[in-house]
Amino acid sequence: METSFVRTAVTDRPVTQVRYDFSGQVVLITGAARGQGRSHALGFARAGADVVLLDCPGPLGSVHYAMAEPEQLHKTAEECAALGVGALAVEADVRDSAAVAAAVASGVERFGKIDVAVANAGIASIYEVTDMPEEAWDELIDINLKGVFLTAKHVAPQMVERRSGKIIMTGSVHSYTGVPGSAHYVASKHGVAGLAKSLAIELAPFGVTVNYVCPTAVNTSMVDAMLGPTVPDDHGERLVGVTGSWNQLQEGAPPLEPGEITQAVMWLASDGSTYVTGAPLFVDAGFTAK
Ligand SMILES: NC(=O)c1ccc[n+]([C@@H]2O[C@H](COP(=O)([O-])OP(=O)(O)OC[C@H]3O[C@@H](n4cnc5c(N)ncnc54)[C@H](O)[C@@H]3O)[C@@H](O)[C@H]2O)c1
Repeated sequence: METSFVRTAVTDRPVTQVRYDFSGQVVLITGAARGQGRSHALGFARAGADVVLLDCPGPLGSVHYAMAEPEQLHKTAEECAALGVGALAVEADVRDSAAVAAAVASGVERFGKIDVAVANAGIASIYEVTDMPEEAWDELIDINLKGVFLTAKHVAPQMVERRSGKIIMTGSVHSYTGVPGSAHYVASKHGVAGLAKSLAIELAPFGVTVNYVCPTAVNTSMVDAMLGPTVPDDHGERLVGVTGSWNQLQEGAPPLEPGEITQAVMWLASDGSTYVTGAPLFVDAGFTAK
Protein backbone atom coordinates (compact mmCIF):
# COMPACT_ATOMS: atom_id res chain seq x y z
CA MET A 1 0.00 0.00 0.00
CA GLU A 2 1.28 3.45 -0.92
CA THR A 3 1.82 5.65 2.13
CA SER A 4 2.35 9.36 2.12
CA PHE A 5 3.61 11.58 4.86
CA VAL A 6 3.26 15.33 5.14
CA ARG A 7 5.12 16.72 8.11
CA THR A 8 4.12 19.99 9.74
CA ALA A 9 5.70 21.51 12.83
CA VAL A 10 3.45 20.88 15.79
CA THR A 11 3.17 24.58 16.42
CA ASP A 12 1.37 24.65 13.06
CA ARG A 13 -0.50 21.40 13.63
CA PRO A 14 -4.03 22.21 14.68
CA VAL A 15 -5.03 20.38 17.84
CA THR A 16 -8.75 20.89 17.60
CA GLN A 17 -10.11 18.30 20.01
CA VAL A 18 -7.97 18.99 23.07
CA ARG A 19 -8.28 22.18 25.09
CA TYR A 20 -6.68 22.54 28.50
CA ASP A 21 -7.45 25.19 31.07
CA PHE A 22 -4.71 25.55 33.67
CA SER A 23 -5.73 29.04 34.78
CA GLY A 24 -5.18 29.49 38.51
CA GLN A 25 -2.50 26.78 38.46
CA VAL A 26 1.25 27.14 38.80
CA VAL A 27 3.65 24.94 36.84
CA LEU A 28 7.37 24.61 37.53
CA ILE A 29 9.51 23.33 34.65
CA THR A 30 13.22 22.52 34.70
CA GLY A 31 15.29 22.79 31.52
CA ALA A 32 12.74 25.35 30.36
CA ALA A 33 14.91 27.69 28.29
CA ARG A 34 14.70 25.70 25.08
CA GLY A 35 13.66 22.41 23.49
CA GLN A 36 10.95 20.38 25.16
CA GLY A 37 11.01 22.44 28.37
CA ARG A 38 10.38 25.65 26.43
CA SER A 39 7.54 23.97 24.55
CA HIS A 40 6.01 22.81 27.86
CA ALA A 41 6.37 26.34 29.31
CA LEU A 42 4.60 27.95 26.36
CA GLY A 43 1.97 25.20 26.28
CA PHE A 44 1.04 25.70 29.93
CA ALA A 45 1.21 29.50 29.59
CA ARG A 46 -1.15 29.39 26.60
CA ALA A 47 -3.49 27.35 28.79
CA GLY A 48 -3.42 30.08 31.45
CA ALA A 49 -0.93 28.72 34.01
CA ASP A 50 1.64 30.82 35.80
CA VAL A 51 5.07 29.32 35.22
CA VAL A 52 8.33 28.99 37.14
CA LEU A 53 11.16 28.26 34.72
CA LEU A 54 14.58 26.87 35.72
CA ASP A 55 17.61 26.44 33.51
CA CYS A 56 21.21 27.48 32.84
CA PRO A 57 23.68 25.13 34.54
CA GLY A 58 26.69 26.77 32.89
CA PRO A 59 29.31 24.83 30.94
CA LEU A 60 29.61 21.07 31.41
CA GLY A 61 32.88 19.20 30.98
CA SER A 62 31.67 15.97 29.39
CA VAL A 63 28.99 17.23 27.00
CA HIS A 64 29.98 18.44 23.55
CA TYR A 65 26.97 20.71 22.91
CA ALA A 66 26.23 23.90 24.83
CA MET A 67 23.63 24.27 27.54
CA ALA A 68 21.05 27.06 27.35
CA GLU A 69 22.19 30.64 27.87
CA PRO A 70 20.43 32.98 30.34
CA GLU A 71 19.05 35.04 27.40
CA GLN A 72 17.19 31.97 26.15
CA LEU A 73 15.66 31.37 29.57
CA HIS A 74 14.57 34.99 29.95
CA LYS A 75 13.22 35.05 26.38
CA THR A 76 11.06 32.00 27.12
CA ALA A 77 9.80 33.67 30.31
CA GLU A 78 9.05 36.90 28.42
CA GLU A 79 7.12 34.99 25.77
CA CYS A 80 5.09 33.26 28.48
CA ALA A 81 4.41 36.57 30.24
CA ALA A 82 3.30 38.08 26.92
CA LEU A 83 0.51 35.49 26.93
CA GLY A 84 -0.87 37.18 30.06
CA VAL A 85 0.39 34.85 32.77
CA GLY A 86 2.97 35.23 35.52
CA ALA A 87 6.41 33.92 34.59
CA LEU A 88 9.40 33.61 36.88
CA ALA A 89 12.80 32.73 35.39
CA VAL A 90 15.36 31.20 37.75
CA GLU A 91 18.95 30.55 36.71
CA ALA A 92 19.70 27.37 38.61
CA ASP A 93 21.47 24.05 38.22
CA VAL A 94 19.24 21.09 39.08
CA ARG A 95 22.27 19.43 40.74
CA ASP A 96 22.36 22.21 43.32
CA SER A 97 19.95 21.22 46.08
CA ALA A 98 19.93 24.65 47.73
CA ALA A 99 19.33 26.39 44.38
CA VAL A 100 16.42 24.09 43.52
CA ALA A 101 14.92 24.58 47.00
CA ALA A 102 15.30 28.36 46.60
CA ALA A 103 13.64 28.26 43.17
CA VAL A 104 10.67 26.35 44.59
CA ALA A 105 10.49 28.82 47.50
CA SER A 106 10.56 31.81 45.09
CA GLY A 107 7.76 30.25 43.05
CA VAL A 108 5.65 29.65 46.14
CA GLU A 109 6.37 33.16 47.41
CA ARG A 110 5.39 34.74 44.09
CA PHE A 111 2.40 32.55 43.13
CA GLY A 112 1.33 30.93 46.42
CA LYS A 113 1.92 27.27 45.43
CA ILE A 114 3.21 24.93 42.76
CA ASP A 115 0.55 22.58 41.39
CA VAL A 116 2.57 20.83 38.71
CA ALA A 117 6.31 20.15 38.45
CA VAL A 118 7.87 18.96 35.20
CA ALA A 119 11.36 17.60 35.96
CA ASN A 120 12.63 17.81 32.41
CA ALA A 121 16.24 19.08 32.50
CA GLY A 122 18.64 16.55 31.06
CA ILE A 123 21.79 16.02 29.02
CA ALA A 124 23.16 13.35 26.69
CA SER A 125 26.64 12.32 25.64
CA ILE A 126 28.12 9.43 23.69
CA TYR A 127 30.74 7.17 25.26
CA GLU A 128 31.17 3.42 25.19
CA VAL A 129 31.41 2.08 28.73
CA THR A 130 35.06 1.05 28.53
CA ASP A 131 36.07 4.50 27.23
CA MET A 132 33.71 6.53 29.39
CA PRO A 133 35.47 9.02 31.65
CA GLU A 134 34.06 8.83 35.17
CA GLU A 135 33.33 12.55 34.89
CA ALA A 136 30.90 11.81 32.02
CA TRP A 137 29.09 9.18 34.09
CA ASP A 138 28.91 11.42 37.18
CA GLU A 139 27.82 14.55 35.33
CA LEU A 140 25.05 12.81 33.45
CA ILE A 141 23.71 10.80 36.40
CA ASP A 142 23.87 13.89 38.61
CA ILE A 143 21.74 15.90 36.17
CA ASN A 144 19.39 13.31 34.65
CA LEU A 145 18.68 11.37 37.83
CA LYS A 146 19.77 13.30 40.91
CA GLY A 147 18.43 16.55 39.41
CA VAL A 148 15.01 14.91 38.97
CA PHE A 149 15.19 13.59 42.53
CA LEU A 150 16.07 17.04 43.90
CA THR A 151 13.27 18.70 41.93
CA ALA A 152 10.73 16.20 43.27
CA LYS A 153 12.16 16.33 46.80
CA HIS A 154 11.84 20.09 47.05
CA VAL A 155 8.53 20.54 45.26
CA ALA A 156 6.63 17.67 46.92
CA PRO A 157 6.27 18.95 50.53
CA GLN A 158 3.98 21.85 49.62
CA MET A 159 1.94 19.46 47.41
CA VAL A 160 1.64 16.98 50.28
CA GLU A 161 0.56 19.81 52.57
CA ARG A 162 -2.19 20.82 50.13
CA ARG A 163 -3.08 17.15 49.38
CA SER A 164 -2.81 17.90 45.67
CA GLY A 165 -0.12 17.93 43.01
CA LYS A 166 1.27 16.38 39.86
CA ILE A 167 4.92 15.55 39.32
CA ILE A 168 5.90 14.65 35.76
CA MET A 169 9.41 13.43 35.03
CA THR A 170 11.01 13.25 31.61
CA GLY A 171 12.11 9.70 30.93
CA SER A 172 12.78 8.37 27.46
CA VAL A 173 12.26 5.32 25.33
CA HIS A 174 15.59 4.51 27.01
CA SER A 175 13.72 4.20 30.31
CA TYR A 176 12.75 0.88 28.75
CA THR A 177 15.31 -0.08 26.09
CA GLY A 178 19.11 -0.17 25.95
CA VAL A 179 21.34 1.41 23.34
CA PRO A 180 25.08 1.11 22.74
CA GLY A 181 27.26 4.15 23.42
CA SER A 182 24.96 5.67 26.03
CA ALA A 183 24.83 3.28 28.99
CA HIS A 184 24.97 6.20 31.44
CA TYR A 185 22.01 7.90 29.70
CA VAL A 186 20.04 4.65 29.60
CA ALA A 187 20.86 3.96 33.26
CA SER A 188 19.71 7.47 34.21
CA LYS A 189 16.41 7.09 32.37
CA HIS A 190 15.77 3.62 33.83
CA GLY A 191 16.53 5.32 37.16
CA VAL A 192 13.87 7.94 36.46
CA ALA A 193 11.36 5.12 35.96
CA GLY A 194 12.26 3.57 39.32
CA LEU A 195 12.19 6.94 41.05
CA ALA A 196 8.77 7.80 39.59
CA LYS A 197 7.23 4.45 40.53
CA SER A 198 8.54 4.53 44.11
CA LEU A 199 7.69 8.17 44.69
CA ALA A 200 4.21 7.59 43.24
CA ILE A 201 3.57 5.02 45.98
CA GLU A 202 5.02 7.29 48.68
CA LEU A 203 2.90 10.27 47.63
CA ALA A 204 -0.34 8.47 46.69
CA PRO A 205 -1.81 8.78 50.22
CA PHE A 206 -1.47 12.56 49.88
CA GLY A 207 -3.24 12.90 46.53
CA VAL A 208 -0.04 13.64 44.63
CA THR A 209 0.61 11.73 41.39
CA VAL A 210 4.00 11.01 39.84
CA ASN A 211 4.35 9.91 36.23
CA TYR A 212 6.99 9.97 33.52
CA VAL A 213 6.79 10.76 29.86
CA CYS A 214 8.94 8.67 27.52
CA PRO A 215 9.71 10.39 24.22
CA THR A 216 11.38 8.90 21.19
CA ALA A 217 13.83 11.18 19.33
CA VAL A 218 12.72 14.81 19.52
CA ASN A 219 13.93 17.71 17.41
CA THR A 220 15.98 19.64 19.99
CA SER A 221 19.64 20.54 20.57
CA MET A 222 20.09 17.23 22.37
CA VAL A 223 19.18 14.97 19.52
CA ASP A 224 22.29 15.88 17.53
CA ALA A 225 24.32 14.43 20.39
CA MET A 226 23.21 11.02 19.18
CA LEU A 227 25.46 11.44 16.16
CA GLY A 228 28.65 11.60 18.17
CA PRO A 229 31.06 14.20 19.45
CA THR A 230 30.85 16.51 16.41
CA VAL A 231 27.70 17.56 14.63
CA PRO A 232 28.14 16.96 10.88
CA ASP A 233 26.75 19.40 8.29
CA ASP A 234 24.31 16.79 7.04
CA HIS A 235 23.06 16.05 10.56
CA GLY A 236 19.39 16.25 9.54
CA GLU A 237 19.73 13.45 7.02
CA ARG A 238 21.95 11.42 9.33
CA LEU A 239 19.44 11.69 12.12
CA VAL A 240 16.71 10.38 9.88
CA GLY A 241 19.11 7.55 9.04
CA VAL A 242 19.42 6.70 12.74
CA THR A 243 15.93 7.41 14.05
CA GLY A 244 13.73 7.25 10.94
CA SER A 245 13.25 3.51 11.35
CA TRP A 246 12.13 4.03 14.95
CA ASN A 247 8.93 5.68 13.77
CA GLN A 248 6.37 2.97 13.08
CA LEU A 249 3.73 5.51 12.05
CA GLN A 250 5.82 7.40 9.51
CA GLU A 251 8.90 5.47 8.55
CA GLY A 252 11.78 7.73 7.58
CA ALA A 253 10.29 10.72 9.37
CA PRO A 254 12.53 13.17 11.20
CA PRO A 255 12.45 13.34 15.03
CA LEU A 256 9.16 14.46 16.59
CA GLU A 257 8.60 18.14 17.32
CA PRO A 258 8.69 19.09 21.05
CA GLY A 259 5.00 20.05 21.04
CA GLU A 260 4.07 16.39 20.59
CA ILE A 261 5.61 15.70 24.00
CA THR A 262 3.94 18.77 25.49
CA GLN A 263 0.54 17.30 24.60
CA ALA A 264 1.34 14.22 26.70
CA VAL A 265 2.77 16.24 29.59
CA MET A 266 -0.32 18.47 29.67
CA TRP A 267 -2.59 15.42 29.78
CA LEU A 268 -0.57 14.01 32.69
CA ALA A 269 -0.93 17.39 34.42
CA SER A 270 -4.67 17.56 33.77
CA ASP A 271 -7.74 16.15 35.54
CA GLY A 272 -7.95 13.62 32.72
CA SER A 273 -5.18 11.59 34.35
CA THR A 274 -6.50 11.62 37.93
CA TYR A 275 -6.07 7.87 38.45
CA VAL A 276 -2.80 7.57 36.55
CA THR A 277 0.24 7.37 38.82
CA GLY A 278 3.61 5.64 38.71
CA ALA A 279 3.11 5.22 34.99
CA PRO A 280 5.15 5.79 31.84
CA LEU A 281 3.49 7.57 28.91
CA PHE A 282 5.36 6.62 25.76
CA VAL A 283 5.28 9.17 22.95
CA ASP A 284 7.40 7.09 20.65
CA ALA A 285 5.52 6.35 17.44
CA GLY A 286 5.59 2.66 18.32
CA PHE A 287 9.35 2.38 18.89
CA THR A 288 9.11 0.36 22.11
CA ALA A 289 6.23 -1.74 20.79
CA LYS A 290 8.51 -3.38 18.25
N1 LIG B 1 15.69 15.16 22.32
C1 LIG B 1 15.45 13.86 22.42
O1 LIG B 1 15.57 13.12 21.42
C2 LIG B 1 14.98 13.27 23.71
C3 LIG B 1 14.34 12.01 23.69
C4 LIG B 1 13.90 11.47 24.89
C5 LIG B 1 14.03 12.16 26.07
N2 LIG B 1 14.66 13.39 26.06
C6 LIG B 1 14.76 14.10 27.34
O2 LIG B 1 14.04 15.30 27.24
C7 LIG B 1 14.52 16.25 28.19
C8 LIG B 1 14.66 17.61 27.56
O3 LIG B 1 15.70 17.58 26.59
P1 LIG B 1 15.59 18.32 25.18
O4 LIG B 1 15.39 17.28 24.15
O5 LIG B 1 14.61 19.43 25.27
O6 LIG B 1 17.09 18.87 25.02
P2 LIG B 1 17.70 20.36 25.19
O7 LIG B 1 19.17 20.16 25.30
O8 LIG B 1 17.19 21.25 24.13
O9 LIG B 1 17.08 20.87 26.57
C9 LIG B 1 17.56 20.48 27.82
C10 LIG B 1 17.56 21.72 28.70
O10 LIG B 1 17.98 21.31 30.02
C11 LIG B 1 18.91 22.29 30.50
N3 LIG B 1 19.77 21.68 31.50
C12 LIG B 1 20.68 20.71 31.31
N4 LIG B 1 21.33 20.45 32.44
C13 LIG B 1 20.79 21.25 33.39
C14 LIG B 1 21.05 21.44 34.76
N5 LIG B 1 22.01 20.77 35.40
N6 LIG B 1 20.32 22.36 35.43
C15 LIG B 1 19.35 23.09 34.79
N7 LIG B 1 19.08 22.95 33.48
C16 LIG B 1 19.78 22.04 32.79
C17 LIG B 1 19.66 22.74 29.25
O11 LIG B 1 20.31 23.99 29.45
C18 LIG B 1 18.54 22.78 28.22
O12 LIG B 1 17.90 24.02 28.17
C19 LIG B 1 15.81 15.64 28.74
O13 LIG B 1 15.55 15.06 30.01
C20 LIG B 1 16.13 14.55 27.75
O14 LIG B 1 16.90 13.52 28.30
C21 LIG B 1 15.12 13.95 24.92
